[in-house]
This record gives sequence, structure tokens and C-alpha cells, in this order.
Amino acid sequence: MGITLSRPGIYVPKNVLDNEFFESIIDTTDEWITKRSGIKERRISLEMGITEMGAIAAKRCLEREVITDQEINEVLFATNLHDDNKEFPSHASYVANQVNNPNATAYDVSAGCSGLVYAIRQAYNNMVAEPDLKRALVVGGERLTDMTDYSDRTNCFLFGDGAGAYLLERFDGEEGIINNVAGGRSDTGSVDFPYGELALENKIGLKLISDGAGSYNKKFSKQNYLVMNGKKVFEFAVPIMEHGVRKVLEGTDYDLEDVDAIIPHGANIRIINPAKNRLKRDGFNGEIYTNLEKYGNTSTASVPIAADEAFSKGIIGRGSLVINVAFGAGFTWGANLYRAR
Ligand code: COA
Repeated sequence: MGITLSRPGIYVPKNVLDNEFFESIIDTTDEWITKRSGIKERRISLEMGITEMGAIAAKRCLEREVITDQEINEVLFATNLHDDNKEFPSHASYVANQVNNPNATAYDVSAGCSGLVYAIRQAYNNMVAEPDLKRALVVGGERLTDMTDYSDRTNCFLFGDGAGAYLLERFDGEEGIINNVAGGRSDTGSVDFPYGELALENKIGLKLISDGAGSYNKKFSKQNYLVMNGKKVFEFAVPIMEHGVRKVLEGTDYDLEDVDAIIPHGANIRIINPAKNRLKRDGFNGEIYTNLEKYGNTSTASVPIAADEAFSKGIIGRGSLVINVAFGAGFTWGANLYRAR
């Protein structure tokens, strides 16, 4: 009896912010942003909230799956920002109702950009421990634009919005999820960054606010915004991506040579490339697939947004051996190894 991970359903907002937009609001250039991060565009969702985006992604995921009795026993929602105080009681509760399973166990997971990878691991472990759980829906959704200060040129060009959702399901004869790993390296408590190198700070910043007609206005306002020590995040991220991939293969029947595709959290191409080069050197000859150039860092949504495109392009197909790998604020990291169905 295997527990499979589906192809994800995703939602990406329509509004695009390209690098030229950032040239118009901060002291930067398209060339600098592209060279330092690999990002050309990102999407912003000013009208639709995190829960709604997540629910759309979840419905799209379920529409693709053939579920005979429609029963989903658990909904986990991974996210960073809790927009308009809607985190109470949980985003997962909203999604459970939206997918017609109000009786599902529903709760949120918060682990920075590793949240969705953590949640897949959690849902899998729950299903192993409780044989009555037939299906779990795992959603990642973000509206990072809400916590972005568009006057802070050190990080505002990195982030975007979106959502993605996977179904975990019991399936006879399928290998499905093979292994999950997760870990942390807490960085909170330092003098300069008491809440970590990637944290929220209450300050006056520039916000993008919906104009109600499909576009946005800019407004300075005081609230919590993301602040980041980019170099420290970088130092953590580069080795941990590679570590996550190696760790999730440990103790399994598989080596790097067997892996068809790696879907890394899309934070910065300069974080992904060094890991890619070292893994290639050691026998990995599959594809590391990201589309961060189009969507920026969508945090918990970045792995499904890239994976969905990898499925569309045939990079992942039935039988592919795939690794999701992520790192995030906290610091956190995690990986999932699965055989695609
Ligand atoms: N445009 C142009 N120049 C900029 C700039 C911008 N938007 N932001 C900073 N600079 C300048 C700096 O002032 C600095 O100038 P100096 O050399 O004269 O002092 C120079 O560019 C280099 O800045 P630095 O901060 O050292 O750049 P970097 O190579 O570290 O790249 C990031 C910055 C943010 C792209 C990079 O640190 C990063 O991606 N870190 C990881 C972030 C991340 O992934 N976060 C999410 C984790 S889930």
C-alpha cells in the first residue's frame, strides 16, 4: 500500500510586476535584479486573499484526480502571512469547506518557505500512523506582497503571490511517497535580528493597495514588513539545498543517478545553481526545474508552481522519481522524495 503525491493544482494571479516596475520605484536596474536573483517577473494578488487562492488551487488539484467518494480526511495549509487577521481559526478550515469536506481535520502549518514540504511530511506521517485516513489535501498559499515594503530595495524585488495544492492518497501497488526529511537551524535571538535573519519588523513602508479596478495604488503605511539579512540567508540556503537532496535519499533504495527531477524552492537562481552543479558532479543527471524567473519567490507555493509546469512540459511524468526541496525562515529546511503517478 503506497501513499501517493498527486500532480499539484495551482493558482497564479494575473497582475505582473516586471523588473521595469522596480526601476520606477527603487534605485535598481533590470540587469542587477536579473544577475543577482534570476527573477524577471512576479505576480501580485491584491484582490484575492490567501485562503481563496489556496481554495482555487485545491479545487484544481482535485478536479484532475479521480476521487470516487470525494472524501478528504485532512487539510493542511502552509503559509507565512495571515492576511487581514483571517488566520483565526485557520486557512485550512476555509479550504476544507470549499472542497466540500467540512468534517476534515484542518489546521495550518507555519515554517517559512519550507512550510509546504513540512506539511507533506506531516500529512504522510499522519496517514501512516492512522490507517483510516484515506486522503489529505496539502495547500501552500501566499500573498507576500502584503508584507513587502516596496521602498526597501534590498528585498522587495524578490517576492510574489500564488498558491499550490497536492493530494496525498492511499493507492494499492503505487510506490508514491518514499521518504521525507525536515530540519531546522534556529537563527532567532541575535542582537541585530532578534526574530531571525528573515523576519517581520513594524515600520513605515511602501505598500501596494488594490484600486478596486484590477490595478493598484502605492501608499506609505506603518505595519509589519519583511526584513532580511540577505547574505546570512544565502549562507544558510546554498548548502542546505544540496543537503536536503542527499538526506532524503539516505536509507532509500535510490541514489542521485536515479532521480529524474528536483523541484527546489525558487528563492534565487544563485542559490539553486551551486547545489545543481555539485549534485550533477556527483551523478545527478536529471533536471532541476524552477520557474522563479516568472513568479519570483512565492514561498510555500513555489514548489507546486514549478512542479505543475514541469508536469506540463513532460519533465515529470508517470513513474518519474522526484525530489521537492525547500529552505526558509526560521531557519527551516525539508525535502520529499516520491514516485510520480
Ligand atoms: N538594486 C541595485 N543595487 C542594490 C540593490 C538593488 N535592488 N539592493 C542592494 N544593492 C546594492 C547594495 O547596496 C550593494 O552595494 P555596495 O556593494 O556598493 O555596498 C550591492 O548591491 C550588493 O548588495 P548585496 O546585498 O551584497 O547583494 P547580494 O549579492 O547579497 O544579493 C540578494 C542580494 C537579496 C539578492 C541576496 O542576498 C539573496 O537573494 N539572498 C537570499 C534571499 C532569500 O532567498 N530570501 C528568501 C528566503 S526563503
